Amino acid sequence: MKEKIKKHEEQIKEFKANSKEELEQFRIKFLGRSGLMKELTNEFRSIPNEEKRDVGQLLNGLKEKIKNKLEQSKESLSSSESTTQNNNEDFSRPTGIQHLGSRHPLSMVRNEIIDIFSRIGFTVAEGPEIEDDWHVFSGLNFPPEHPARDMQDTFFIEKNPDIMLRTHTSSVQVRMMENSKLPLRILMPGRVFRNEAISARAHCIFHQVEGLYIDKDVSFADLKQTLMFFAKELFGEKTKIRLRPSYFPFTEPSAEVDVTCSLCNGKGCNVCKYTGYLEIMGCGMVDPNVLRDNGIDPEVYSGFAFGMGIERITMLKYQINDLRYFFENDVRFLNQFSGII
Ligand code: PHE
Repeated sequence: MKEKIKKHEEQIKEFKANSKEELEQFRIKFLGRSGLMKELTNEFRSIPNEEKRDVGQLLNGLKEKIKNKLEQSKESLSSSESTTQNNNEDFSRPTGIQHLGSRHPLSMVRNEIIDIFSRIGFTVAEGPEIEDDWHVFSGLNFPPEHPARDMQDTFFIEKNPDIMLRTHTSSVQVRMMENSKLPLRILMPGRVFRNEAISARAHCIFHQVEGLYIDKDVSFADLKQTLMFFAKELFGEKTKIRLRPSYFPFTEPSAEVDVTCSLCNGKGCNVCKYTGYLEIMGCGMVDPNVLRDNGIDPEVYSGFAFGMGIERITMLKYQINDLRYFFENDVRFLNQFSGII
């Protein structure tokens, strides 16, 4: 009987299941109701008592080996099954649709503005959002009693000495004039803060782009040509501009810039309130006081500056009627800009 068991052990060792069916047959053959184990157990009963101990041990060992073989074969079958499944994958099949994010409309318009001005030699500069009085007001020729210095307009962080959130990007002009070599031809985009009630037309946080050009012999004609180029690039070739006299403490003369309404081509509609024009920015020749205060000789150098709100330009370009959409991060709004740039 010992011989028999050894022979079966060999057989079990060599067995290799190629499929689940083969494995099941193997199980029935050895462990089934009328399988080999049953047969050997029956035979075991009739062997002499003195052999029972040794043969019993061998028999138990055989049963263990069958069980182990079954376990191992099951595992290797299921792992080879998963690799053959992978081999059947078609890697050239298109995947599911990947949803890409979209740029925020304000970023898109800011980039477009930067792109237009970079074509005529402007480079980009940035400055801090938390500023002192000099850079926001005094260095820009604001008289001490100017209403913009009021708590009503400005978010102060500290008083005496005054530290505040900048109310306009013109503060970066001052930083550039004090630090850079002339000539200067820079564009300064950034976030600004004003103590205003939030509505469809105003917000306490918004974005501006400031421009500054200082060199010898810079004239108002240069300013007009630059702005005309910009307006045509941004709103289309047919666009016309109009300058209206205005006032800023840091420019003299100063002007407000209007462009012809791109919706009605200047004929008049409800977007332009039947004027045919839309206001897009403030501008002017840098006030000699500002140049002097920042160490630039106004007898030798002159310059122009302009500043515009990115929200306003974006609203005009995409006909958005409520400024609050820009800050709410509602994907139903933002998704409408996917794939534009
Ligand atoms: N800083 C001005 C504002 O915030 C805009 C401006 C910039 C006007 C540069 C003239 C020149 O309204």
